[in-house]
Amino acid sequence: MIRYQEIKIKLTATPKTWLITGCAGFIGSNLLETLLLLDQKVVGLDNFATGHQHNLDEVKYEVSTEQWNNFTFIEGDIRNLEHCTKAVGTIDNSVDYILHQAALGSVPRSIADPILTNSANITGFLNMLVAAKEAQVASFVYAASSSTYGDHPALPKVEETIGKPLSPYAVTKYVNELYADVFSKTYGLNATGLRYFNVFGKRQDPDGAYAAVIPKWTAAMIDNQDVFVNGDGETSRDFCFIENAVQANILAATAPDSGKNQVYNVALGDRTSLNTLFDSLKSALQNNGVDYQKTPAYRDFRAGDVRHSQADISKAKSMIGFQPEFKIQQGIDKAMPWYINFLSK
Ligand SMILES: NC(=O)c1ccc[n+]([C@@H]2O[C@H](COP(=O)([O-])OP(=O)(O)OC[C@H]3O[C@@H](n4cnc5c(N)ncnc54)[C@H](O)[C@@H]3O)[C@@H](O)[C@H]2O)c1
Repeated sequence: MIRYQEIKIKLTATPKTWLITGCAGFIGSNLLETLLLLDQKVVGLDNFATGHQHNLDEVKYEVSTEQWNNFTFIEGDIRNLEHCTKAVGTIDNSVDYILHQAALGSVPRSIADPILTNSANITGFLNMLVAAKEAQVASFVYAASSSTYGDHPALPKVEETIGKPLSPYAVTKYVNELYADVFSKTYGLNATGLRYFNVFGKRQDPDGAYAAVIPKWTAAMIDNQDVFVNGDGETSRDFCFIENAVQANILAATAPDSGKNQVYNVALGDRTSLNTLFDSLKSALQNNGVDYQKTPAYRDFRAGDVRHSQADISKAKSMIGFQPEFKIQQGIDKAMPWYINFLSK
């Protein structure tokens, strides 16, 4: 049996208490859903900066009443240390595991407002580290980012070899790793970073200037609008379906000591060009009765974007037993009915 199955059985038999920051966002709400379905106790912290009440409402609908009653939501801001300490110590004195997702994502947002991004992603992160070490949690798993590879051209990306950051966002995510490492060395906190590579799936926000490519294009196709491709479409990414990212979080939080205090790539280990992605989304929509006829509208490359990205995931495989269950097309096929339903509301 793969480690993920074993851990899920163990957790269900002996439930733990988890704190998810950013629980009203895309990744956070998917973590919440999975953990509640496993009968875990969960505290959630979010200030709705980019998250939504409707994500929480949807999770409530997906789980039983009993499971939903295991959830305590705190509306609060990680930039406020008191909110962080309250969240960490809400149930039975303190939580066992923290999955820290709250941050302001998006490279362009950070270029437009580096101070705002810095406050959530660095000050907020530091507050969460302090709260976690005071509460002596068993592990602190945090959302790092593939943007940390910056301008280093090597492919696939191996955890030890990084370049210089290409955006304020990338700086903040790298600083997270530096702080986490220092907290593990100086205070003995178990802190593990997950360098996500373009995670996608249900509840990823299709709206707004800073939407990620898959929800943005899907929404445009459903609405029969132009799909804009930055550059020539041969830019590539290692798209990671949300359920693979959820698996990585649960495995990292419950890892044996040998797997803690590390940084892991979380991806599929594959590379898809934007042109191929366009075709995949179009055909998945067609399978769901949406016929998009337009061709992509190409425009300039975007500042701060890296050209290619592909992860080497062997470290996460060997050290925490990560086995991504969904390839990109399987993920797109699973997410598409949700997008069609969500966007037709
Ligand atoms: N989605 C990806 O492909 C991807 C890739 C790399 C890294 N990440 C990281 O993963 C994490 C989750 O990303 P996501 O895609 O779910 O984004 P998201 O915007 O959907 O979720 C982030 C959540 O954090 C909350 N938040 C933001 N600032 C906060 C604050 N000051 N206090 C409390 N809550 C706050 C938001 O309201 C939102 O609910 C982020 O740290 C992001 O940087 C995501």
